[in-house]
Amino acid sequence: MCGIVGYIGGKNAGDVIIDGLKRLEYRGYDSAGIAVISEGAIESRRSVGKLAELGKILRSKPLKGLTGIGHTRWATHGKPSEENAHPHTDCSGKIVVVHNGIIENYLELKKILASEGHKFKSETDTEVIAHLIEKNFKGDLFKAVLETLKTVKGAYALGVISSDDPDTVIGARQDAPLIVGLGNGENFLASDIPALLPYTRKMIFLEEGDVVKLNKDGVKVFSKDGREIKRETKNITWDAVQAEKGGYKHFMLKEIYEQPQTIQDTILGRLFIGEQKIYLEDVKIDDKKLNGLNKVYIVACGTSYHAGLVGKFLFENLVKVTAEVDIASEFRYRSPVLDKKTLTVVISQSGETADTIAALRLAKQSGSHTLAICNVVGSTVSREADDVLYTHCGPEIGVASTKAFTGQLAALYLITLDWAAKKGSIKKDEFVRLINEFWETPSRIREVLKADPQVAALAKEFSQKRDFLFLGRHVNYPIALEGALKLKEISYIHAEGYPAGEMKHGPIALIDENMPLFVVATKSAVYEKVLGNIEEAKARGGTVIALATAGDKEITAKTDGQIYLPEVDEFFAPLLTVIPLQLFAYHVAEVLGCDVDQPRNLAKSVTVE
Ligand code: G6P
Repeated sequence: MCGIVGYIGGKNAGDVIIDGLKRLEYRGYDSAGIAVISEGAIESRRSVGKLAELGKILRSKPLKGLTGIGHTRWATHGKPSEENAHPHTDCSGKIVVVHNGIIENYLELKKILASEGHKFKSETDTEVIAHLIEKNFKGDLFKAVLETLKTVKGAYALGVISSDDPDTVIGARQDAPLIVGLGNGENFLASDIPALLPYTRKMIFLEEGDVVKLNKDGVKVFSKDGREIKRETKNITWDAVQAEKGGYKHFMLKEIYEQPQTIQDTILGRLFIGEQKIYLEDVKIDDKKLNGLNKVYIVACGTSYHAGLVGKFLFENLVKVTAEVDIASEFRYRSPVLDKKTLTVVISQSGETADTIAALRLAKQSGSHTLAICNVVGSTVSREADDVLYTHCGPEIGVASTKAFTGQLAALYLITLDWAAKKGSIKKDEFVRLINEFWETPSRIREVLKADPQVAALAKEFSQKRDFLFLGRHVNYPIALEGALKLKEISYIHAEGYPAGEMKHGPIALIDENMPLFVVATKSAVYEKVLGNIEEAKARGGTVIALATAGDKEITAKTDGQIYLPEVDEFFAPLLTVIPLQLFAYHVAEVLGCDVDQPRNLAKSVTVE
């Protein structure tokens, strides 16, 4: 939600910042702006709409300066407009601020500041910060920011510059992500890693309450009370090329096609076929404690929640432990019964989703052991959980999550197979059979991807439908939910995911010639039941597209369209069945001319409640 970039060094700040913002545009894209210090004064450009609009303005009215900050916005307070676009200034125009988060007491502060004569130009919560810094400024920008932070309540990642202190960029973090990039004679601020990959791999992940002072030759981190503190510098191994489209029309398509590799990368060095064992380097919980656990809570949002639903099956079937799955925004306001005997697994691609972080903190406070499945090294979730298992998916830029989902599934298989082996809840030969099946997944996904042209043809045929039903059962029920979510997210078509067996209890009433059904009907223990559900839909005039196992002739006769997948143990089916549904959503959105990578109203990382 909102992306921030800050720069100080020898390059033209405006160029570095717009380049970085392009890689953060997935975080918000309803308006954008940049401010630099140019010949001793603040100059800024702002515009409504995507960064391309700001780019046009910058081409006709370039910015010149070596220090600057920029922002791409996902509106919370105040509609998308030029006035509400960041950076925001104080009354003098000498101080500018970019902000990601929400200042909860901004109305109260605004009232006080207005009574003191401050003039407000926007409807945002952010603007109060600029005016507070102005009020507290006595020649030292850093001190003025520290003073200001004493009065604001809420969540923020901030970037601040002032023409009265031109050799400094200040950053501050509280419940919203902010990283520092270290260069030679230049330093950077950003909301997320991809923004800085072309410039540096040396990064500091700021922690809650950190305030950072950047000059071109150095970076110092402080606590909110002004004490200098040491923060570790991390070397990021992600490749800048991974954050580019690499010949694909959209990031989403590229990321769908990367899945054989990203799953392999997540498994590699952890699953040892020859030695018949799994080794999870970062999961430090000892076997005694692990085997003493009697309940698992899985908590996440969005697509990551759907991965959690698959996880429930795996924990119950392999580890034989009760597992509950919760949406983080619900979990945090319920009273989940958590104690030392529970394991809380939080799943988050970004590691910065506000509700997931809150759920993690609640679990920790309650004594539950916490394990994070996360894609972003150094993110809040990965730092705060007791254990973390990283998915090695590289940066995911498309707002609709694809490769992160299958990476999360791969992590869940690793965790549950490992635990089952340690606990002895599955027999050795079954464990060996399953890890061998699992090992084959990347090559099977390559096979599934060959069906892309058929999926594209189906998408063309069905793209004018306004409603869709996705059905699945057992371990493929979450895949039906995920298929529906993908279609909603990027093509704005109403879609519902349902457990096929539940259809009779409501959704069957919707079925007619205008409501096509996508049914996951691969070979499994519930295959016959799913066939029955297909018959019921057909009997009511429904058009059925089936995801079926290669060679299944029965399904060809019973359905209107089919996508065939290689045969696979039903436990691992979700890793395959989700792929055509991702492709289907992608192609429908393409046919409809929707903005695939940046769907309306959404943001990749939801850092506000
Ligand atoms: C947003 C994104 C989804 C993502 C969800 C959870 O809604 O658009 O793609 O699944 O947040 O994000 P997380 O980073 O916690 O997995």
